[in-house]
Amino acid sequence: MIVAIDGPAGAGKSTVSRQLARRLGFQFLDTGAMYRAVAWAALERGHDWNQPERLVELARGLAIEMTDTGVKVDSVDVSQAIRSQRVTGYLKYSADNAGVRGILVERQRAFAVGKQIVTEGRDQGSVVFPQAECKIYLTASAEERAQRRVADLARRGETANFEQVLSEQNERDRRDMSRAVGPLVQAPDATVLNTDHLTEAEVVDALVSVVHEHCRQLGLEPPGK
Ligand code: DC
Repeated sequence: MIVAIDGPAGAGKSTVSRQLARRLGFQFLDTGAMYRAVAWAALERGHDWNQPERLVELARGLAIEMTDTGVKVDSVDVSQAIRSQRVTGYLKYSADNAGVRGILVERQRAFAVGKQIVTEGRDQGSVVFPQAECKIYLTASAEERAQRRVADLARRGETANFEQVLSEQNERDRRDMSRAVGPLVQAPDATVLNTDHLTEAEVVDALVSVVHEHCRQLGLEPPGK
């Protein structure tokens, strides 16, 4: 079974999707971390950003290992490093590159073979796994999302200005929704969940309910607890 969770930046997808996977006993795939890993590796290698085809080559040669707790690039754990504001500033180069997307989409599909997974990103229900049994579109207001991002950065020891985070996030939303390949769209058969004013635990409970409801409709045994 595939549970595909999509939504805009800062909707809290990663944290709750990971917890949902644990509750269901499924494996978890954070596809944003893969786009981040490519941007991180390019920065490490002093990539020339005016050469998009070189970024495709770089992505093709990278060993990106998705673990239940994070991501490794060529055996180096980069789970924390890929979340920095510096890497975030270069994400457009990996996420908007059709060649890079092609490579990562292929790897995402390969990851899912023979597994029960919760996968999280922007295009999981619409492009990567259109056959997913359960699709969820997780969202929240722009202000709430920016507040969460500021708090998240503070926990990582990075200070960030709310207005600046909000304006960068608006720009990412615009890019995510308007990119030519794999844009952020709400799949027509997705269940929408707005997480404004909900705690993490409440969101996870709501997600478990949505998955169980889908299972009932499909005549499947509801997984997990
Ligand atoms: O969810 P995130 O912030 O970690 O995602 C990182 C970047 O990757 C962000 O710019 C959106 C992009 N992304 C994407 O284009 N497609 C996905 N399936 C997941 C993320």
